[in-house]
Amino acid sequence: MQLAATIAQADALFEILPRPVGFIPTMGALHDGHLALVRRAREECVAVVASVFVNPLQFAAGEDLERYPRDFEGDREKLARAGVDVLFAPPNDAMYPPGFSTAIDAGAIGAGFEGAARPTHFRGVATVVGKLLHLVKPDRLYLGQKDAQQTAVVRRMVRDLAYDARVVVVPTVREADGLALSSRNAYLNLTERAAAPSLHSSMLAFRDALAQGASKAQAYERAKAVLDPLAHLHYLDIVDAQTFEPLETLRDDAFVIAAANFGATRLLDNLWIESL
Ligand code: PAF
Repeated sequence: MQLAATIAQADALFEILPRPVGFIPTMGALHDGHLALVRRAREECVAVVASVFVNPLQFAAGEDLERYPRDFEGDREKLARAGVDVLFAPPNDAMYPPGFSTAIDAGAIGAGFEGAARPTHFRGVATVVGKLLHLVKPDRLYLGQKDAQQTAVVRRMVRDLAYDARVVVVPTVREADGLALSSRNAYLNLTERAAAPSLHSSMLAFRDALAQGASKAQAYERAKAVLDPLAHLHYLDIVDAQTFEPLETLRDDAFVIAAANFGATRLLDNLWIESL
């Protein structure tokens, strides 16, 4: 695996990669969910590029930018073992040179749910993914379904701004007890970790109640009964998978989405309703 630590090095390497090129953007602290993206890219592409860049623009003041888990050497080893051809790890000032002031606004699709809780978050995500796509020029962009709203925002951006990449969304990888893999799971203490899988169980209860004809309010009550009392639920809802607009009933191509705090850690999860 080659390492590109500057934009000039990256340009020289990306120029000669055989196509199709698959690209996995990450913020490091890699787990099996990220490696599932690499495996899928490896199956579908001739060359695979991954990036590790903890993007300051998607963290608001007071969020966990400083304490976000970092393990560059561990990540590098995992990516090399998984068969990545180029690791792009740009320094901050390469991505955001002094005076950087341009941003991509995700618009309404990024305004609700995570966007309501973190108003500058999707602007930061869209800006960095937009810039990475411009630098890497992949044929396919691999994203994890765990961050469902992020997949909708990026798909929309790729369509609206006519990036020449196909977005591939890879199913969430879970622990045996149902907890979705996330770099932020590392923040959970033992009690929070034991309670956290109830977020997944509550989404299943919500989905099943809706599928049996319950109203959204009834389904919500059934889901709350399954959620561990330690959880502080921010939302549990159904949305259109493409627009992220709330729905009243289950239908094809929808997400059941949920976010809850376990202690200081905000966890997200979702279920994709591909077809009823
Ligand atoms: O999902 C993430 O890890 C990040 O939001 C991404 C897509 C790498 C952009 O920084």
